Amino acid sequence: MAKITAGVATSHVPAIGAAIDNGKTQEPYWQPLFKGYDYVKQWVKQQKPDVVILVYNDHASAFDLNFVPTFAIGCGAEFKPADEGWGPRPVPNVMGHPQLASHIAQSVIQDDFDLTVVNTIDVDHGLTVPLSLVFGQPEAWPCKVIPVAVNVVLYPAPSGRRCYNLGKAIRKAVESFDQDLNVQIWGTGGMSHQLQGPRAGLINKEFDNAFLDRIVDDAEGLSQMAHFDYLNQAGSEGIELVMWLIMRGALNDKVELKQRFYHVPASNTAVGHLVLENK
Ligand code: DHB
Ligand code: FE
Repeated sequence: MAKITAGVATSHVPAIGAAIDNGKTQEPYWQPLFKGYDYVKQWVKQQKPDVVILVYNDHASAFDLNFVPTFAIGCGAEFKPADEGWGPRPVPNVMGHPQLASHIAQSVIQDDFDLTVVNTIDVDHGLTVPLSLVFGQPEAWPCKVIPVAVNVVLYPAPSGRRCYNLGKAIRKAVESFDQDLNVQIWGTGGMSHQLQGPRAGLINKEFDNAFLDRIVDDAEGLSQMAHFDYLNQAGSEGIELVMWLIMRGALNDKVELKQRFYHVPASNTAVGHLVLENK
């Protein structure tokens, strides 16, 4: 039986990818940020996941404004890094797990969550930056990755509650897959940030730290937070945090907190990172 053993949450700021790709991680601006990821790099080597279900959002890279599914799952065998305007990141292609992905689609859609099945998709910084933060710069990514894309770009975005419940449905799907697989689920994006308009540059440390507290110990309550509250308190791009609730919904009610990290700023963004194990 496949089993979800742990969850990881992390911001996915594109400038972090550029810092890694251009050898700048030890520069004074970046060094404190990358230090916060030392733990997860060691931890993941011990955990050795077979598959990561990686919840992220496409930033109008693969889905332009003509087609934006609320939820999509990558069922292909291989995904290339997207060209976001300055060439694809120099990172390995992402290898999928078509059997498990198709099984999740089957189970979750029958549980009334409408996932769009995507076979070919180039994956942008939302997916590749978390892989780089956790796995560093290997020749090939050490596990299979199933992309789960969430629309947090074109309004309306799904509610936190729906995301949390989707996480539960994904867990049920994984647990009914008949191969022994160590599966992790990662939620990416956030924390507070706003890239546009009069409030561009908004950071809200109180909100972010309360979110980090509650997603560990009061996820059910946190999942009730309304869309407006994300926008109002965490900025227009703070809505990316609903993706963390998909990760959290797929874990046990009680989890063990192995790492918590918060850093401001990276580019325009407050960076948050959690490692959670299923007890
Ligand atoms: C930035 C952060 C993001 O999460 C993103 O997707 C794009 C840009 C930023 O801080 O610049
Ligand atoms: Fe983003």
